[in-house]
Amino acid sequence: MTLVLGIESSCDETAAALVDGDRRIVAQRIASQDAEHAPYGGVVPEIAARAHAERLAPMIEGVLADAGITLADCDAIAATAGPGLIGGVMVGLVSAKALAMASDTPLIAINHLEGHALSPRLADASIGFPYVLLLASGGHCQILRVDGVGRYKRLATTIDDALGEAFDKTAKILGLGFPGGPAVERKAMEGDPSAVPLPRPMVGSGEPHFSFAGLKSAVLRAHESGQFEIADIAASFQQAAVDCVIDRLRVALAETDDIDTLVVAGGVAANATVRAALEQVAADHGMRFAAPPPKLCTDNAAMIAWAGVERLALPEFSPAPLDISARPRWPLDPDAAPVRGAGVKA
Ligand code: KG4
Ligand code: ZN
Repeated sequence: MTLVLGIESSCDETAAALVDGDRRIVAQRIASQDAEHAPYGGVVPEIAARAHAERLAPMIEGVLADAGITLADCDAIAATAGPGLIGGVMVGLVSAKALAMASDTPLIAINHLEGHALSPRLADASIGFPYVLLLASGGHCQILRVDGVGRYKRLATTIDDALGEAFDKTAKILGLGFPGGPAVERKAMEGDPSAVPLPRPMVGSGEPHFSFAGLKSAVLRAHESGQFEIADIAASFQQAAVDCVIDRLRVALAETDDIDTLVVAGGVAANATVRAALEQVAADHGMRFAAPPPKLCTDNAAMIAWAGVERLALPEFSPAPLDISARPRWPLDPDAAPVRGAGVKA
């Protein structure tokens, strides 16, 4: 039975996990850095890199001890090699290289986005290729056609902010704290989603791309007007964001008639309102809908280990060279054309 050690350190979660070829998460540990970053209202890259450096080695030892095994029992070490905050990615990748060299175990350099993209298959063995994926996290908001491991076609991206970023900025504006997504979701439960008139950027556009910067600015104006309750702004923001996602997906799905499965992954997929809306879109299109459990949606090492299991099974698999570099940017579909109006983040 294949067994892969996964390491994740691309943002503010330090994580290690052991996953086997039967989709069993044999062991996993995760340490969030929320407390360190909360005073700054966002992730501070230098603090993140230091925290990863302090925590990762004991964490890896911990998962091996939890499983009662040594590195020699692992078929490969899979580490996030990008995209992400470069200091953190380097900590994880350098650790993986050292362990791979010391134990003579193959190294697999995983694209963090591929970890998210394949996570639904870790959660559910019946999810086969192809599927349409909404990947919505703090740094990315894309719709992709997933035809296989490593075979991604980007159908849409954001021209400015990612969806998770919009949740985080809204939380900051409303004083809801950090991390923002779950805080906005909780506050929204007490509010009226139709109380505050907010824009739905891009809705009606013939191309399926996203934009959330204008929505965030409108949230700021609504808050500064002093006319609305915080809970009503949170609920109205969440509703506007969901309306945008649904409209953009409908445009994308018009191009993917041959695909019968819709999948959501990434941190924002933990949001119950988003999940419910997507389930409805899938039903309207006669598609099956799948979302990993919330714990597999936000950053974790099990999805990185699982991507390693999937890569190891490819006929063309070869281990990463030990001099491979960490990559701050690493698109899943390098052939995707730049989007008109997109800023540097696309
Ligand atoms: O995938 P992830 O853990 O890290 C990245 O790769 O970015 O995603 C984190 C993002 C953050 O922006 C966070 O606010 C958002 O996902 N998020 C949520 C929820 N949980 C996490 N957004 C909305 N509702 C949630 N429940
Ligand atoms: Zn992520």
